Amino acid sequence: MAAPVHSVVVIGCQWGDEGKGKIVDLLSAEADIVARFQGGNNAGHTLVVEGKQTVLHLIPSGALHTKTVCVIGGGVVLDTTALVQEVEQLGVAGFPLGPGRLLVSQDCHLILPYHKAIDQARERRRGKGKIGTTGRGIGPTYEDKAARVGLRVADLLDETHFRERLRVVLEEKNSYLRNILDESVLDFDTVAAELERAAVLIRPRVADTARYLHEALTSGKRVLFEGAQGAMLDVDHGTYPYVTSSNTGIGAVCSGTGVAAKLVRKVIGITKAYTTRVGSGPFPTELSNEIGDRLRNEGGEFGATTGRPRRCGWFDAVVLRKAIRVSGVDVLALTKLDVLTGLDPLLVCTGYRRGADVIDDVPALAEELERVTPIYEEHSGWTQDLGDCKRLSDLPPAARKYIARLEELAGLPVEIVSVGPDRAATISLSPAF
Ligand code: IMP
Repeated sequence: MAAPVHSVVVIGCQWGDEGKGKIVDLLSAEADIVARFQGGNNAGHTLVVEGKQTVLHLIPSGALHTKTVCVIGGGVVLDTTALVQEVEQLGVAGFPLGPGRLLVSQDCHLILPYHKAIDQARERRRGKGKIGTTGRGIGPTYEDKAARVGLRVADLLDETHFRERLRVVLEEKNSYLRNILDESVLDFDTVAAELERAAVLIRPRVADTARYLHEALTSGKRVLFEGAQGAMLDVDHGTYPYVTSSNTGIGAVCSGTGVAAKLVRKVIGITKAYTTRVGSGPFPTELSNEIGDRLRNEGGEFGATTGRPRRCGWFDAVVLRKAIRVSGVDVLALTKLDVLTGLDPLLVCTGYRRGADVIDDVPALAEELERVTPIYEEHSGWTQDLGDCKRLSDLPPAARKYIARLEELAGLPVEIVSVGPDRAATISLSPAF
């Protein structure tokens, strides 16, 4: 008889920064393998264990459990220098990621210095119309993947082969940088040498991770798939063009790891108890007032990757419902509930008004979403500090009512409630696997 499949996907249901890192770190204790499947080091996953903070950008958030194998799937775009830095930092912190513990897909596309230069130059040229990217070269790398001119980890395995390919591509990129973007060009030897330095660490960790994950799942191992960014930043289903350049939902788990859809068992959608977004683009429930400032300060809402202040606003059930539908979310993890302590009343957006119409979905055009007005309902707040709550029954009645209303609006149960940044500050209502 075939072994039962144990796979759980953790996916962001808003505009990223939902606290996926914390939840993945928590669930990694029960997992054999944690795999990233999209995005790159534009992500910033903050983990706090016994008061000590670690921020990961590229390595899966299972890294702090020394028995968990970390996999970087082929759908991830890889900045090799950033990867080496992160491996070294984790090694110093007591979490070594030797070749047995970190596997990098041979299929990952490489973020090269010209991708970052192009990303940053384009943002500067866009002026007020900028997307507000992280400047990490994510968009240009995915563009090259689709245009079939990208360099991959597999190319990095042989230095002579890599240099030949890089020489051809760099010539074209330098021409674009110089003639179109009016930027300085990149020196071939410098780029090649930087890549070669990183390749020394990466080569022993390169694997056919699609096959590895398939064999792990079909032999009964527990695999956790870790999403980056969030549903509204999905290049197809998000608030285009104010999105990232990858799919962030369930489809990306399969395309970004090579694991078949039928091996994906459970999807946990992560949502904050309010909403944030970083970068430009429409945000109907945004609070440009002292409540927004308070959420930012209490919630430490500053980008883990760029340090930018995050825009903050009320909870938006329209956004959540779309994320649930697109990714087939099974259960929710509600994060940062503690940040709402002291606010009264709490507003929840249940729909949008567009002119005389009431709509319950996200319009396709960013300009239209910019013009909608949220329809709010009011809920009572609470003043009790939630940090020490270990069970649902420890929460004040108003907080329990707030959760119950979000469950009703989502049509799904909340299985995890996070009441503080530390791993321990979590109420788990049932096992994830
Ligand atoms: P890019 O992914 O760097 O191209 O940025 C595109 C948009 O996605 C910008 O608005 C970024 O701020 C946003 N973004 C990218 N990664 C994250 C993330 O991990 N959390 C939140 N926003 C992100």
